[in-house]
Amino acid sequence: MFPGATVIRLPTVDSTNNYAAMLLKTSKVAEGTAIMADEQTHGRGQRGNSWQSEDNKNLTVSFVFYPTFLETGNYFLWSMAVSLAVRKLVHVQGVPNVSVKWPNDVLVGTKKIAGILIENAWNAGRLQSSIVGIGLNVNQLRFGDKVNATSLHLLVGQEFSRKRLLEILSSYLQKAYIDLLSAKLDSLRSEYHQYLYGKDLSKTFFLANGTEFTGIVREVSDNGKIMIERESGLSSFEMKDITWSY
Ligand code: BTN
Repeated sequence: MFPGATVIRLPTVDSTNNYAAMLLKTSKVAEGTAIMADEQTHGRGQRGNSWQSEDNKNLTVSFVFYPTFLETGNYFLWSMAVSLAVRKLVHVQGVPNVSVKWPNDVLVGTKKIAGILIENAWNAGRLQSSIVGIGLNVNQLRFGDKVNATSLHLLVGQEFSRKRLLEILSSYLQKAYIDLLSAKLDSLRSEYHQYLYGKDLSKTFFLANGTEFTGIVREVSDNGKIMIERESGLSSFEMKDITWSY
């Protein structure tokens, strides 16, 4: 455990990321602190989407870290490390074929099992603090019309302890953070690309203006851009520029 890091468990909150942001504004928060909620009334996802999660069934947690050694040019290494920690958590529960979908969803086959919302604060081009929000589908069995979602229980056929999963996730994240701090970068990049969904495959995307295009996913850079090979050559895209068609 990081010194002073605790778990704050809330029965209900609007969003654990919001709660972490409020804590950061009003008090000193020890690195590695986790805020976990049994219910989120306004869970948030990437691109302004909401994050729906059945009450008391899943892991909805936000961690606070201070990766001040990262800059705008390499900040995405932290996202890679976080995604891989969540991927490993799912994998060690006995689930095969777990991948990381850029920028940082975790998939089993083509179904999403976890989403990650990292909210970074910057100071003069350096990362100041990072709120790492993770939604992992654990014991939820029905997803309504979300046919592309799955959970640990659905995949493994048993219930899981959310408390135990959180303990393992905390330890993986802390290790990932220490590895990043000690600059184990080549293994981080290669592991991210080893598990990158669609790597070296032809995939279809939409540009922000709705135009569809197809290209081969090649790699993701340290600053979070994805490189896609098209007939016209290699293009790089930021998260706001494209979405997956699936
Ligand atoms: C996504 O896939 O769009 C990201 C989903 C992130 C959801 C988690 S749940 C815990 C934390 N609190 C939030 O409001 N969002 C993140």
